[in-house]
Amino acid sequence: MQKRVYIETYGCQMNEHDSERILHLLERVHYLETENPKEADLILINTCSVREKPEHKVYSALGRFKRMKEERGTIIGVAGCVAQQEGDRLLDRIPYLDIVIGTHAIPKLPQLVEKIEVTGERVCETGFDQNGGYLKAVLPQKPLAKVKSYVTIMQGCDHFCSYCIVPYVRGSEKSRPSSEIIEEVKHLAGMGVREICLLGQNVNGYGRGSEKELSFPELLQRINEIDGIERIRFTTSHPKDLSEELIHSFSRLKKLCEHIHLPFQSGSDRILKAMHRGYTKESYLEKIKRLKEACPSIALTADAIVGFPGEEEEDFNETLDLMKRVQFDDLFSFKYSPRRGTSAAQFPDKVEEKVKQDRLLILQELQKRITLQKNQALEGRVEEVLVEGRSKQNAQEVTGRTRSNKIVNFEGDIRLIGKLVPIRIVKGYAHSLRGEIVSVTIRDGGNPSP
Ligand code: SAH
Ligand code: SF4
Ligand code: F3S
Repeated sequence: MQKRVYIETYGCQMNEHDSERILHLLERVHYLETENPKEADLILINTCSVREKPEHKVYSALGRFKRMKEERGTIIGVAGCVAQQEGDRLLDRIPYLDIVIGTHAIPKLPQLVEKIEVTGERVCETGFDQNGGYLKAVLPQKPLAKVKSYVTIMQGCDHFCSYCIVPYVRGSEKSRPSSEIIEEVKHLAGMGVREICLLGQNVNGYGRGSEKELSFPELLQRINEIDGIERIRFTTSHPKDLSEELIHSFSRLKKLCEHIHLPFQSGSDRILKAMHRGYTKESYLEKIKRLKEACPSIALTADAIVGFPGEEEEDFNETLDLMKRVQFDDLFSFKYSPRRGTSAAQFPDKVEEKVKQDRLLILQELQKRITLQKNQALEGRVEEVLVEGRSKQNAQEVTGRTRSNKIVNFEGDIRLIGKLVPIRIVKGYAHSLRGEIVSVTIRDGGNPSP
């Protein structure tokens, strides 16, 4: 019998990708995705605990779904990083919750769901699997209705930045065999995927601890050779481990898009030290300089935290100074949020909420101006856009991204989806670009020719 699963996802790309894998796995036990929780037989919340705010979302989401349990007997589960962190406590706290499934236990989900269907038992699976079973690909068996896909290349993190919960909820760093990654990318290319984003907490550590494995730049090179794949991206890279070889890949590999996400977190050496980041403001700026030398058109994005314990006005000014010097294309910025079990949660000199808020606003104002300027500077230029789908706002329009990962909306036919199209940028906004087709004829099965 066909059943329905509704899944809600919070957090980073790893979680988005895990949700996709969960859906593929559940198809094997006859669950099809629904966008309407009211008609679901199974509701899953894939959670994030990196800061307090996303963590709280799980409890409000559960509140919303309580009625469905009461009215329809819907099976309700929590997956992801909050599940990993809280384990049985979640079952104790939420009496109508059926499943708690940790970050490494995803492959067990179909079995667990079938068991619950029969016995009605409540289950919690949060063991870590050091053999990397979680990393095994869940390959889609039919062509995908999407042009880009994630591929996990490693899991976990051994860095233990003093503020961060990730190493505790994702386990220690482990790389997938390159042969499996390459197979998966080839398979996805066969299923219609044109762009691959390689995922890991610190992709530059790929292959660490395994002598015979390819290095990350070597892996990129191999993926660059795969027919059908037009674009390659990766995330995230740690500034400390960003090698010269990787920097060179941006100029060497045709399919590697000119964009790097390189979180700096703070511009103050004192704070960077307390965060255990392993680099200084100057060494970060030096890496940026090398990236710009090797690839002048490279787009730069990053993450930053304000209000880390002990952050004074002058530390914050160092962060602003770093931003002004780098001129990021975009920045994801957060107020420091203490996480239970991390070392920084014990640090003295907490920064007041009001100060954190003020600093966040100042930083975001500055970035907004820089982003807008950068987007406006593209006006008049022709950019290669990979068309991803119909625009949500306007049915006559399609949407895609430049190689630098900027969103472009333009009037166009849905037959352009999956194609690389030259687009003239006519307007730069704060969050996207507007473009127009330079001139294009669509040949069946081929790329458009200008
Ligand atoms: N692995 C990635 C990032 C993982 S978490 C990396 O190392 O770059 C994503 C971002 O959340 C981090 O870059 C950081 O900016 C932010 N973050 C993590 N823990 C946080 C905390 N306790 N408070 C506020 N922001 C945090
Ligand atoms: Fe967290 Fe640091 Fe690991 Fe990134 S490198 S996941 S910030 S511990
Ligand atoms: Fe959140 Fe887990 Fe990702 S804590 S940021 S979903 S690794």
